[in-house]
Amino acid sequence: MGEKPRGIRDTLRLEISEPGDTQSGGSLEESIDDLTLQTLQSVFSDFDAESLLSYFPRYDIAEALCLWRAGISRKEAETWPEGLHGYQISCLHYLGITPGHLTYNEQEDLLKAMFEDPRLGEIWERPDEHAFLGSGKHAFVVLDDTGKTAYKIGRNLENEYGVLKKMRAQERKRGRRFQHMARMKKGLGRGQVDVIELEYIQGRTLEQVLRDSSLSPRRTLRYTQGIFYGLMEMRESGILYHRDVRPANVIVDNKKAILIDFGIATEEPQALIRDNRRYGGSNDVAEIHRANDLFSLGQVSYVMATGSHLFSESGDARSITAGDLVIRRREAFEDPKKRRRYREKVYDTVPDALLAAFTWQLMTSRPDDYGPVGDELARLTALPIYEIIT
Ligand SMILES: Nc1ncnc2c1ncn2[C@@H]1O[C@H](COP(=O)(O)OP(=O)(O)OP(=O)(O)O)[C@@H](O)[C@H]1O
Ligand SMILES: [Mg+2]
Repeated sequence: MGEKPRGIRDTLRLEISEPGDTQSGGSLEESIDDLTLQTLQSVFSDFDAESLLSYFPRYDIAEALCLWRAGISRKEAETWPEGLHGYQISCLHYLGITPGHLTYNEQEDLLKAMFEDPRLGEIWERPDEHAFLGSGKHAFVVLDDTGKTAYKIGRNLENEYGVLKKMRAQERKRGRRFQHMARMKKGLGRGQVDVIELEYIQGRTLEQVLRDSSLSPRRTLRYTQGIFYGLMEMRESGILYHRDVRPANVIVDNKKAILIDFGIATEEPQALIRDNRRYGGSNDVAEIHRANDLFSLGQVSYVMATGSHLFSESGDARSITAGDLVIRRREAFEDPKKRRRYREKVYDTVPDALLAAFTWQLMTSRPDDYGPVGDELARLTALPIYEIIT
């Protein structure tokens, strides 16, 4: 074996008849013929039967070809959830989705449904001309081939659709576009999956930006203002609580911050907190279960200014579980001594006294304190540049 150069057919035959390999028997022989092999050789100048063989028997010939063409090794392919076809894996790869993006069980099921939805056919026909923008527990967001529309593709998006529709109606009523929230272009398409068409927002999420470093006081203030305005636009439309204010739900560029993800936003004035355990919560012991977006904004503002989560001792938000964080936060506001300590911590660690005071104002705001917060923001942002450290 090995002295005489082998043809592809020989190579394949040899490999599949390897003794002891019970799974591979026959499948290749059945799925590939000489004509196919010749065609492969003439179509792909770099066609290499050995590489193709490495995918067998787990993947069949069609899958092996897709994976091979996409440059995904068998080892890599196996890091994807089982049940995804090789073709699907290669499409996801071209789109920019990797197994590292899959953190929730629900996502696997959603991906499979996305391949079955004929409305998304254009994505799978030309995945390299689309781009993966981000994902959460409920959705994948994909940029279309014009670079202008972000498709939010998920399950149970009807609440978000209802909220965005209300905001669009309010925009029309006042005759001016909202500037600080993700605007809907078209929705809701329902099929195997729900699809909402959003305006594409250029930039990175605040969560991504904060992975590199904290922000200057001035930038912190600017982004806090952007998120606050986004909340105002939402409230102007009759939606009282966003309930999911956190760095992953804010997109920023050099100039501004835009609030996204209205998935659990609600008109309900007594709305309870849902999810968002790291940045949610309330500062009012008596109303500890009620949503308070300003309180969330205070926590986001603090993390922008310091790079640390206020309720995590080590400063690293991930060094404490979300459950422990909820307990720590609750204790901080139940016990006046602890509350004073957190106030001191804010003043000691936010690198600007005015911003520290404002962050604490947000942290202690009632859910409806938009008036005083707005006034203070207007005052701070009008200050000459040297008064807040840049
Ligand atoms: N209009 C948009 N323009 C650009 N990127 C977007 C847009 N909307 C969403 N994204 C990206 O997609 C990601 C997921 O979007 P979104 O937060 O709306 O989904 P989600 O599934 O509801 O999230 P989660 O369940 O984690 O809150 C965002 O973090 C962001 O990176
Ligand atoms: Mg989100």
